[in-house]
Amino acid sequence: MTMAAIIGGIGTTHVPSIGKAIAEKKHNDPYWKPFFKGFDYVHYWLARTKPDVAVVFYNDHGLNFFLDKLPTFAVGAANEYCSADEGWGIPVARPIPGDAALSWHLINALVADEFDVTTCQGMLIDHAITIPMTLIWPGPSWPVRIVPIEINTVQHPLPTLARCLKLGRSIGRAIESYGQNLRVVVIGTGGLSHQLDGTRAGFINKEFDKLCLDTIVGEPEALTRYSIHDWVQLSGSQGVEFLNWTAMRGAMTGRVSELSRNYHIPISNTAAATVVYENRRERAREAA
Ligand code: DHB
Ligand code: FE
Repeated sequence: MTMAAIIGGIGTTHVPSIGKAIAEKKHNDPYWKPFFKGFDYVHYWLARTKPDVAVVFYNDHGLNFFLDKLPTFAVGAANEYCSADEGWGIPVARPIPGDAALSWHLINALVADEFDVTTCQGMLIDHAITIPMTLIWPGPSWPVRIVPIEINTVQHPLPTLARCLKLGRSIGRAIESYGQNLRVVVIGTGGLSHQLDGTRAGFINKEFDKLCLDTIVGEPEALTRYSIHDWVQLSGSQGVEFLNWTAMRGAMTGRVSELSRNYHIPISNTAAATVVYENRRERAREAA
């Protein structure tokens, strides 16, 4: 039977200044090298696994949605996604191809699963997609199509970690029920700990980040005991971008293992992390 397969997941930070470092080719500068070297394994793994599609969990920062109208979950359903100048002084990325047919399959499955998502046939994508995409696929053209899935991490009330894990699981089941022979990688962007505003601006929590990275692979449910309020306290007001990682982990339906991890402090105000997870189908399913 022809079915789409989830080959694995990638988690990465989406700090805008990375775009400037790429444009200025600062990959080997002492400040940047420890961060960029985390992508050597990502490139090696992708050259071997060659996914066709990336489902990207991310959060918009005011480019496509603003505080006046802000969905909790939104799914792109376009065949192309453009970016725009957000004011960070970085080059605007070239348009990224979409896969509207897969998007609608995922949207149908989510709504059937009682996730009442906003559907976006036109959607501007911001640095939370363009920076990770450029880091992951640095070549002159995009070798994958994307389905962007946006999670509100900006205006409270935010969805819980448990809700985002369930969203990811729904997406994982939906991908595996898609009757096309596609290899799918799931991506979560943002984090880890950081806070850009208020008296704690610059806050980073190395111990908590380590706990998150150690726990998300084998026991993602264990992280759902933290409330959003706990998360802001432990990881900073923007550390809640870990919701995107939580959904990415939820979408991996099989046996998950960590293939690589790079953690580096700081990139701009952020504890930067880059991981690759493998998703191995359970034997029983393989045989079925
Ligand atoms: C930074 C981090 C972010 O997640 C973001 O969206 C913008 C800026 C930073 O550390 O500068
Ligand atoms: Fe961010």
